Amino acid sequence: MRLMTPLAVLAGIFSASLATAEAQDYPTNPITVIVPFAAGGPTDTVTRLVAESMSKTLGQQLIVENVGGAGGTLGAARAAEAEPDGYTLLLHHIGMATSATLYRKLPYDPKTAFAPVGLVTEVPMILVSRKDFPANNLQELIAYVKEHKDEVTYANAGVGAASHLCGMLFMQAIETQMTTVPYKGTGPAMTDLLGGQVDLLCDQSTNTTGQIKGGEIKAYGVFADQRLGNLPDIPTVKEGGLDGLSFGIWHGLYAPAGTPEPIVAKLSEALKVALADPKVVERFAELGTAPVPADQATPAALQQKVLSEIDRWKPVIEKAGEYAD
Ligand code: MLT
Repeated sequence: MRLMTPLAVLAGIFSASLATAEAQDYPTNPITVIVPFAAGGPTDTVTRLVAESMSKTLGQQLIVENVGGAGGTLGAARAAEAEPDGYTLLLHHIGMATSATLYRKLPYDPKTAFAPVGLVTEVPMILVSRKDFPANNLQELIAYVKEHKDEVTYANAGVGAASHLCGMLFMQAIETQMTTVPYKGTGPAMTDLLGGQVDLLCDQSTNTTGQIKGGEIKAYGVFADQRLGNLPDIPTVKEGGLDGLSFGIWHGLYAPAGTPEPIVAKLSEALKVALADPKVVERFAELGTAPVPADQATPAALQQKVLSEIDRWKPVIEKAGEYAD
């Protein structure tokens, strides 16, 4: 057994107490939260609501930085490489798990590159079209897409995005491939849908509710077991004849691996406060979602979610055979 010199012991005690002191004072500077998609989309919306509330609890601004591209993997890679000091975070969704299979060589390992802080929310997906798309229900849409598959365009936010996953499952279910148009997020995709430059999009209720209620786009079905409380007139895709397509876009907050545990714990506690903030709860409800329960806003719950979802989606993606290099 190798004995440590008294100096080494002292150094160890000093560095441990320094880390504890840093964690106790944390945060002493503003914190960057990377959103791996363009501004104005659903991930951005969720992040800004949570970040505003966490800023109040932590006493430092949480500043959102949008790093879009490659279905969210560019932003995730940026966060994975950041200093593990608690001043760079990442808010990402189900793409953290699906990209593990979709990408043959990711610049980070989703299982080990991050220190999970906690789950945030789970958001339903809705199939929508530009306002004048020639279909008025899901069956008419499917018939039109099958007949005009070479002309119909489907928007997504790149391989690994929720809109990509939803499109992949939908096209597999109707056995018809459409032309996909990739964006850096479904914020800019929605802009083109509203302008009629693209035909279809499967997007989260947090980015479609307002436009649906305003009659600016058409909605055909919710990919959930039951209708949404904020959009009761939109049928589920099951009601429209497509069974087995029910999934939620869960979101998690991460720090880079190696971030001191006391800092991660402080962030998780601030996240729980934000998820109980009446302003956050009310706005989430208006947008068709809800914060996770406090016992899910924890590092263990998020790590378990990432691992179980990687296993869940691996065979589904392999069956679809859609990969990115
Ligand atoms: C976004 O925030 O732009 C969306 O999450 C993109 C997507 O995942 O479809």
